[in-house]
Amino acid sequence: MFAATNQHGIVARALANNLYQLDAINPRDFTSDNYRRIDDKTFGGGPGMVMKIEPLELALAAAKAKQAACGVAKPVVVYLSPQGKRADQELINQLAQETGVIFVCGRYEGVDERFIQRNVDLELSVGDFVVSGGELPALLIMDAVVRQIPGAMNSQESVECDSFMDGLLDCPHYTVPRDYQDAKVPEVLFSGNHEQIRKWRLQQSLWRTYQRRPELLQTRKLTKEESRLLSEMLAKSQD
Ligand SMILES: C[S@@+](CC[C@H](N)C(=O)[O-])C[C@H]1O[C@@H](n2cnc3c(N)ncnc32)[C@H](O)[C@@H]1O
Repeated sequence: MFAATNQHGIVARALANNLYQLDAINPRDFTSDNYRRIDDKTFGGGPGMVMKIEPLELALAAAKAKQAACGVAKPVVVYLSPQGKRADQELINQLAQETGVIFVCGRYEGVDERFIQRNVDLELSVGDFVVSGGELPALLIMDAVVRQIPGAMNSQESVECDSFMDGLLDCPHYTVPRDYQDAKVPEVLFSGNHEQIRKWRLQQSLWRTYQRRPELLQTRKLTKEESRLLSEMLAKSQD
């Protein structure tokens, strides 16, 4: 699954340009029985299997040794879990500041709780739903983190304008053709007036956030200009 990271898009280009390094470790390689079992029945009975602590701790030690060899003294150990803290842009930006991260990906019913208690710094969820394994959530988090590495994107400005970067949703975007059947691009975008375009975009961002994610505006203090632009839209919507 992690092979996808050197095949497509920004994450692959950043890897090729050595902006980050990636190694995938299979806990099965750290088992000692003939069947290379990493899971067993859950104590107390019930359906499903649980990932065993021993291969996981050995795999984690190997991951830490690899990170140490690259100069990372204390990587953050993240266990992907639907029970974890819900990932958001603030958390992604914090992870992007770390020199090394180890993502532990569960399968089956998850991992032996003692592994989490003994080794995990942060439990991270990608949303209130359950997927079959931690690999896709890890890839999702990795993609979001890699976008924050300077040089990973062609334009740093486009990262800074993305939704959530300053607590608002992004404004709408348009490209050619200018008129598509009866759907037209807003006139202001052809005005050539950068200040007007900036204000229009900011106003659209505020309005979208207000309509779609009003809770974001409760934690973000609006500037005088932003309050005025939002009030204008509210007044228009009540006309
Ligand atoms: C089928 S799930 C286990 C779910 C677990 N029994 C529970 O209900 O909390 C198997 C693995 O997928 C990963 N996973 C599933 N949903 C996730 C989510 N929303 N966010 C992050 N990881 C998730 C975790 O690593 C988990 O150990």
